[in-house]
Amino acid sequence: MAGELDRVKDDIRRRSDIVELVGQRVSLKRAGRSFKGLCPFHDDKTPSFTVNPEFGSYRCWSCGAKGDVFTWVMETQRVDFFEALKILAKEAGIDLPKFGEKRGEESLDYEAAMIEALAFFKEELGKSPLARDYLKERDLDEETVLNWELGYGPDIGEALAMRLKKKGFALPECKSLFLVDQDPSGGYYDRFRSRLMFPIRDERGKLVAFGGRIIGTGIPKYINSSDTPLYSKSRVLYGMHKAKEAMAKGKRAVLVEGYLDVIACHRAGVTDAVASLGTALADEQVRLLKRWCEKVVVLYDSDAAGQKAADRAAELLTAQGIQVKIALMPDGEDPDTLLRTQGPGAVQKATERGISPMEFRIGQLKAKFDPASEEYWREVPRVLATAESPLELQKYLLPIASEYPGIRDRNAATKALERMVQAERKRAAAEKSGRTWHEDVPVAHTIQANEELLKQLIGPERVILRALFEPMLSAAAWKACGLPHLFATDAGARMAAAALLVLEKPPSGNPSAWIFEIKDEDAAMAFTDLGMGEDNEPVTEEALAEAQERLLRAAEHREARELAASADSSSDDALRELNDRLRKLKGDQ
Ligand code: CTP
Ligand code: MN
Repeated sequence: MAGELDRVKDDIRRRSDIVELVGQRVSLKRAGRSFKGLCPFHDDKTPSFTVNPEFGSYRCWSCGAKGDVFTWVMETQRVDFFEALKILAKEAGIDLPKFGEKRGEESLDYEAAMIEALAFFKEELGKSPLARDYLKERDLDEETVLNWELGYGPDIGEALAMRLKKKGFALPECKSLFLVDQDPSGGYYDRFRSRLMFPIRDERGKLVAFGGRIIGTGIPKYINSSDTPLYSKSRVLYGMHKAKEAMAKGKRAVLVEGYLDVIACHRAGVTDAVASLGTALADEQVRLLKRWCEKVVVLYDSDAAGQKAADRAAELLTAQGIQVKIALMPDGEDPDTLLRTQGPGAVQKATERGISPMEFRIGQLKAKFDPASEEYWREVPRVLATAESPLELQKYLLPIASEYPGIRDRNAATKALERMVQAERKRAAAEKSGRTWHEDVPVAHTIQANEELLKQLIGPERVILRALFEPMLSAAAWKACGLPHLFATDAGARMAAAALLVLEKPPSGNPSAWIFEIKDEDAAMAFTDLGMGEDNEPVTEEALAEAQERLLRAAEHREARELAASADSSSDDALRELNDRLRKLKGDQ
């Protein structure tokens, strides 16, 4: 299946014209081999947005927005990947095979079973005095019940199972939807019993799951659908289908902990509130948010668990370039209790009291440790290392350094602290780069890392790597990439290796075809950037030859120095070895 998806993606990429597509929204002018315009993703004054038809990609040099035809459609039309695939396939006249989704009919059946279950829960709510009492107790009025489609799973044991069966749904399928389960004798019984039911819809409003809160007290307090053929917990946020318009308008989302908190926020006029569902925030949920907003206010409980979750959520959100504010609830409150005890104004205010993650983390440290203690100073660099910019770091360095017990020289203390922070950053970066390339690399990290790679490259290395894009020179450049030790910098060696891994023979045709296959994401983006940079006149044959010559000479020097350092170079053996190595270095020339 995956192979098929890749093939279709390639087909679509080949048939879509990125310049035409982007040109529908951005007025583009040709600049060398690419096109330029005002970036649609930020308030751009000078054209910093480039589109490269050869790579099928776009890139903003100012805000870092980048991608291909798929991300373009996802971001400008606010759709998920599969929707973008459908839109582009249609325009390109390509028939899509069915991916991931169940066979058409079966999927329809699933949806129908869910809709039937929802109707059942709603009816039961109307019929149950117990459930109506609970609604009253929780201040959930009729309007709220209708608006959020609340229901009730009765305590009968198999009422829903019988209903679904009677309506002709296959119970094994209903089991896979987490509506019913099987007892040891094989009989089917309801999953949600004696529970207030919250239907969960995905961003487009499709009914995909349920959450059920026990009426009164009992364990577990909540039961939530597990992943089913219609539902993946980590891709859905509760309330998204209602919140997305407000998010798009205000470019902000409020992230709360639970179902009732989402409902309370919306009732209080905070209509951009959503919650992850009985799980910690997931990367996919962050990506979903990113398609709709730029800022997120994390509004979690102030207890230890809430603080820890807020810290982690902030980390995930920041890693994908979302601005984060953490706004903890007053002690012992959640948005639901706040609305009931203090009214809508208090909920709105709570969303406005957010502080930056850095300020939040420093506050946590101060609450936990004495600033005179060793523990405090062990943790400080770790916290400061999470600064999002040098500016933010500078803001906190001096005031914190001044707290150092018995300090005499504030500037020296600041410098010392800054060194500790840099060391911590290096350590954290090393830990990160130890990860395998296939793992999901957060976008913000990717932007930095690929720019770092490009910065490290020296001139002749750039020339050779760029020559890979030139039909007449790609064979020579490809061969050069394969020469051991030719590249002088780690960045150059890494990019050459990344290219060779996906290129069995010299590249021809559209470079995006092989660049998009590179698994080392940083290297892939660096290649894209290389082709779209300002210096984008074609590489000439002479320039390539000269670059290679210069790198060879540099490599010879390196080798000679190394040998001189490692052995007695006056001996015949060493001289012979030096010559051998130089010969190897020049490849088969
Ligand atoms: N949750 C869960 N399973 C539990 C407890 C909590 O899935 N056993 C999830 C639910 O999505 C819940 C959220 O975590 O909405 C927050 O939990 P909590 O604060 O305990 O509940 P509230 O939403 O505040 O519910 P209530 O006000 O009814 O206590
Ligand atoms: Mn609550």
